[in-house]
Amino acid sequence: MPSEPILLTSHESHVSAKNEVTYDGSAALYRRHAPARYAGNDVWLLPILATLDSRPGARALDVGSAVGTNSFYLAKHGYAVTGIESSSEMVSAARAASGSGGLDNRPRFIRQDFCTWVPDEPLFELVLATAFVHLFTPPLDRDITDALLYHVAPGGAAIISTTLEAQHSQALRSKLDSQNPAPGQPLSDLRWRNHYTRATFRNLVERVAIGRFGATCTVEEHRSQDPERPEKVWSDIVVKRPS
Ligand SMILES: C[S@@+](CC[C@H](N)C(=O)[O-])C[C@H]1O[C@@H](n2cnc3c(N)ncnc32)[C@H](O)[C@@H]1O
Repeated sequence: MPSEPILLTSHESHVSAKNEVTYDGSAALYRRHAPARYAGNDVWLLPILATLDSRPGARALDVGSAVGTNSFYLAKHGYAVTGIESSSEMVSAARAASGSGGLDNRPRFIRQDFCTWVPDEPLFELVLATAFVHLFTPPLDRDITDALLYHVAPGGAAIISTTLEAQHSQALRSKLDSQNPAPGQPLSDLRWRNHYTRATFRNLVERVAIGRFGATCTVEEHRSQDPERPEKVWSDIVVKRPS
């Protein structure tokens, strides 16, 4: 049964459109950070991949794949990767890097809003979504998490990873304090970001995983591999779908 597109409210559509424009302007920054992020995957992602029993050539989906950093990493480790990404600039950068990467099994990058994606292809042994779920307004973040798990094949796994904050907040605000809403400022100028704590992020993912698969999660943490934000802590939640 194919997944159905998520029906967005007008507010959610607005936030999605805002993200698309914002990330179009971030492709160069992501390219600059790619080598450190790629190498950093040895520290946190590789140990998690080692716990999965994926066969060589297993299908992987990288959601919000940006310039393809995680997609290339998964491809190097034998996965057949599809990256899905809504920003055309990000997709162009990923495709350009793909041409020069020397990989036999190049990832396939699709420009597509994940919310409205209806794939007509088999499910994936691995679904990876890093720094993605926090972009969506509640309760859409729950629907997005459920949609991520929808794409996991029986016996497969999802890795859902996000930076943690000391305090939980759900707010329209920018990553930069200087761009947070001033009193009276139109909210349409701003982007959404959920600031999950360790507990709220786990609670979100675990509740959805129990509902979809009756499965619980394992939770790992790692320090940021972003040279500009070394203090950040990431929560890496792994959901395994029973066979
Ligand atoms: C914070 S970045 C994280 C990128 C990458 N996963 C990483 O960890 O480096 C979020 C990415 O998700 C993409 N994105 C945001 N909303 C999306 C949507 N609805 N569908 C597909 N991609 C989306 C953005 O364009 C951006 O490239």
